Amino acid sequence: MGINEQKHSGNCQFGNGSPPRLAVRIGRIEMKNPVTVASGTFGFGQEMAEFYDLSRLGAITVKGTSLHPWRGNDYPRTVETPSGLLNAIGLQNDGVDSLINEKLPFLRQFDVPVIVNVVGHTVEEYAEVAARLDDAEGVHGLELNISCPNVKEGCLAFGSTPQGAAEVVAAVRRRTKLTLITKLSPNVGNIVEIARAAVDAGSDALSLINTLLGTAIDPWTRTFRLANKTGGLSGPAIKPVALRMVWEVAQSVDVPIIGMGGIMNALDAVEFLLAGARAVAVGTANFVNPMAAVEVIDGIAEYLQTMGISDVNEIVGSVA
Ligand SMILES: Cc1cc2nc3c(=O)[nH]c(=O)nc-3n(C[C@H](O)[C@H](O)[C@H](O)COP(=O)(O)O)c2cc1C
Repeated sequence: MGINEQKHSGNCQFGNGSPPRLAVRIGRIEMKNPVTVASGTFGFGQEMAEFYDLSRLGAITVKGTSLHPWRGNDYPRTVETPSGLLNAIGLQNDGVDSLINEKLPFLRQFDVPVIVNVVGHTVEEYAEVAARLDDAEGVHGLELNISCPNVKEGCLAFGSTPQGAAEVVAAVRRRTKLTLITKLSPNVGNIVEIARAAVDAGSDALSLINTLLGTAIDPWTRTFRLANKTGGLSGPAIKPVALRMVWEVAQSVDVPIIGMGGIMNALDAVEFLLAGARAVAVGTANFVNPMAAVEVIDGIAEYLQTMGISDVNEIVGSVA
């Protein structure tokens, strides 16, 4: 459905026909439009390249990558819930050397910045992955995942306190010149304090939100639906929470924000931009509609044109 069918009121003016500017900057990353994909919902791009030219994206954010391979959690790892998806993949991945040797050569053929999502059990592991990626050809930014709810040690532990967040960010900052984005967890008491700590420790940008901790139970077998018992909730169910957190964090920090959580279409994305996100990430929507991210890009352009706005940056944080 196009923007004009989606809009509720009929009082928008059409623009003058020239295409609006979509380019945004996240740290030193120049994005040709404000749309990336959420880590873990796009793999390393290979499967999605069958659907469209990946160069259309503003950036590609790849799956969580650790120092050594991680096997992930037992199955079942995913379950659908009303308006959402619960997952407990446990960050299964082949490790940073496999990313450098096997995944990056494929991604280098596209004209698109690559952001690598970094995970670790210890501060040293995060820092070592960052150091190895610092000189890797075709990596433009690191997204520090200090918010994964499905891993028992490390990870979320760092993201739940300002001190923990600052420690990881500072250690990684010492080992990389790449644009550093810290990905925040919604499963905390005060997300603003953690956002500020990450920025003070050297983060160039923030991304939020990761999934919300949840569970699902089968009443007939009287068992948990996920082998891990709990998982991370994503999809439309979490959008109002994500939007509120993006808005709150945007009031309190000066760095750019990548907003995500339940973005299914362009108007969802526009809400995040209005709340203060400079860019957005499309996540669970990729599983429902592989074309979702490019439809969001086109729809943002259509929205701007309909509203007579010439540059996407003008609407960032402009909610009244
Ligand atoms: C199957 C799945 C795997 C994910 N893997 C990662 C990951 O590796 N690293 C990470 O930071 N976030 C991961 N996430 C969280 C997403 O990047 C995103 O923050 C979250 O799903 C909210 O966005 P959405 O509602 O649009 O999916 C994963 C989410 C899903 C659904």
